[in-house]
Amino acid sequence: MTTNTAVTHVACRSCGERYDLDTTDFPCRECGGILDFRYDYESVAIERTDWEERHGSMWKYRELLPVRDGDAIVSMGEGVTPLIDCPQLAEELGVGSLLVKDEGQNPTNTFKDRGQSAAMSGAIEQGAEAVGLPSAGNAGQSASAYAARAGLPCHVYLNHQAGSVKKDLVEAHGATLHLSDGKISSAGAAFNEAREEEGLYSVATFQTPYRHEGKKTMGFELFEALDWTSPDHVVYPTGGGVGLIGIWKAYRELLELGWLDEERPPRLDVAQAEGVAPVVRAIEAGEAEHRPWENPESIARGVEIPDPGASAWMLEAVYESGGTGVAVSDDAAVEAALTMARRDGVEMCVTAAVALAGAMELADRGVFDEDDEVVVINTGAGCKTANALGEASRA
Ligand SMILES: Cc1ncc(COP(=O)(O)O)c(C=O)c1O
Ligand SMILES: [Zn+2]
Repeated sequence: MTTNTAVTHVACRSCGERYDLDTTDFPCRECGGILDFRYDYESVAIERTDWEERHGSMWKYRELLPVRDGDAIVSMGEGVTPLIDCPQLAEELGVGSLLVKDEGQNPTNTFKDRGQSAAMSGAIEQGAEAVGLPSAGNAGQSASAYAARAGLPCHVYLNHQAGSVKKDLVEAHGATLHLSDGKISSAGAAFNEAREEEGLYSVATFQTPYRHEGKKTMGFELFEALDWTSPDHVVYPTGGGVGLIGIWKAYRELLELGWLDEERPPRLDVAQAEGVAPVVRAIEAGEAEHRPWENPESIARGVEIPDPGASAWMLEAVYESGGTGVAVSDDAAVEAALTMARRDGVEMCVTAAVALAGAMELADRGVFDEDDEVVVINTGAGCKTANALGEASRA
């Protein structure tokens, strides 16, 4: 079964080198740059109303996803998550509406499932025999689930501080868990060594071009849910920036197709933890790239990324969209998750709550207007960090 995808090739974001769709040698062989799928938008043979009539998973957007053989798709109903109106929080922030895109409702309870569904489908289409990745935790859990479903052995490289839920569930899915000391960079180094020695197929952030492509569907859903308009702001808990870039790419593609009702980008606001905020620091200095953050420290492990390789792309998205950056303390993130849980009921993990705390701080700074439509991406469910939330409640 063909997906009727309009994908044509892969291109390097840095040097422009062009690769055919069968390349598995990512990132760019010439310069190490990030690879990105390219499409022939003219050949998309449907209308946006066709998308509206489809349900079930993010693969409803298959014309703009990179998999050609429909039988290769590894899916568990990921995506198609609700955009939840949170009136109590909107009042607290003093905005017209606060909408939470609830990615906690994905199969393994985070937005990572979109990227892993795409990456694992790519792995099957490209004939991979074993997959692997370094991760802060959630992507590793998600990869384990999708690899299990695809029948592929999976090697997950985490650092020992990763949350117990993720470590336990990686093993529950039958993947091999490799723990390293130190931070995510040491897990990354261990994975790269194993990739070389054991020929693992990479489903790692911005090594594979499939993950940000899968996250793009978050943007498609957002615009579709808002009747093909942009919200005023999207606040995003930012680590490697995969989701932020995905949403930006979705916006650009819908413009290309003429499917957005006006050319008004959603302002993309980067929220990071105070203890590791390289992208926010770059935004505050108006720089085009980040400088690595020394001594990263945050309990919001998903955003504890000191040296994000895609910062130039993220910063382009922030500047072009008119967004900004905000850093919040770990305590503010935990407090924000509890406020949400107690007032509008949505369960957020601590990492995702960095975005809500960031939105609260931006509201205090007067960045939002009183009738603004503000979207917070709840990248992961509260169950992922239930212990931390419970402890804070009892303190
Ligand atoms: C719950 C959660 N939110 C946000 C992030 C950061 O994601 P991104 O790479 O898209 O910035 C992660 C990454 O691990 C995560 O697990
Ligand atoms: Zn290149």
